Amino acid sequence: DWTAEHIVEELIADVQEKVGSGKVLLGISGGVDSSTLALLLARAVGEQLTAVFIDHGLLRLGEREQVEQALRPLGVNLVVVDASEEFLGALDGVSDPEQKRKIIGREFIRAFEREARKYGPFEFLAQGTLYPDVIESAGGEGAANIKSHHNVGGLPEDLAFKLVEPFRTLFKDEVREIARLLGLPDHIRLRHPFPGPGLAIRILGAITREKIDILQRVDDIFISGLREYDLYNQTAQALAVLTPIQSVGVMGDERTYSYTVALRAVTSADFMTAEWAHLPYDFLSTISSRIVNHVHEINRVVYDITSKPPATIEWE
Ligand code: XMP
Repeated sequence: DWTAEHIVEELIADVQEKVGSGKVLLGISGGVDSSTLALLLARAVGEQLTAVFIDHGLLRLGEREQVEQALRPLGVNLVVVDASEEFLGALDGVSDPEQKRKIIGREFIRAFEREARKYGPFEFLAQGTLYPDVIESAGGEGAANIKSHHNVGGLPEDLAFKLVEPFRTLFKDEVREIARLLGLPDHIRLRHPFPGPGLAIRILGAITREKIDILQRVDDIFISGLREYDLYNQTAQALAVLTPIQSVGVMGDERTYSYTVALRAVTSADFMTAEWAHLPYDFLSTISSRIVNHVHEINRVVYDITSKPPATIEWE
């Protein structure tokens, strides 16, 4: 594709001109925007880039390894930090959704700052800001910001970076096209959005390591099932929610009293509104059996048939 190739060349030249011989810091979330930006910057400035991926312990199964395997071979100087002790410690006993987001936002900045000091000094901070983000923040606190989003937060004065935002004029589809040219694997390139706070807002109530482990296994069965049945790309987002509901079931001759998990999949153009995805019954049946057979902590699976509004996509 000539146009996308041309855009890539231009973006690389712009970055090189702006950054010169300065050092660039980038936060990696595991999503398509920051991963693509990492690849672009590695091409443009090589080792001057330090990409930092903070693992808060609330990622999906294998996610951290996938990001490492996608970026390192393509020359990204990637630092991976296991900060799960700090994050989960700070979240201990917290059940309010907004409180969870605030704590994760705060811990994220703390961890990011620490890495910035360790590998710096950095003159530049790169961000994968897209054109719609520019519009949205110009519009202020709209309906889209009903839930506080703490992905990028205020950094202290002494870490006063100059911003590098090569995707400021681009839409998501264009970034996906650039990602393809730069060699980002499809499983990341075409990935559904995943919230910054991760599984924290998909475990209703207080978070424990055991609950994270349960949800990771359920989520993996659901998402890999969607891929296997070619349904992943027909939905805009799909997720599993671990509820605090325990109910009675039966397993062999034994009565069980275990958790209920909710599956949710939606179609959506812009995530401001969404319709529940009409997944085939046979598929739901297969997934339900796999979950209860493989995840013994779960004895009941329900499917969320609410659209947005009035429900949101996430349950917290
Ligand atoms: P809701 O649940 O409000 O979500 O319908 C709309 C989209 O935003 C994502 N989302 C978040 N993303 N930090 C994020 O980075 C958050 O705190 C957050 N909350 C919701 C959600 O996954 C969906 O794609």
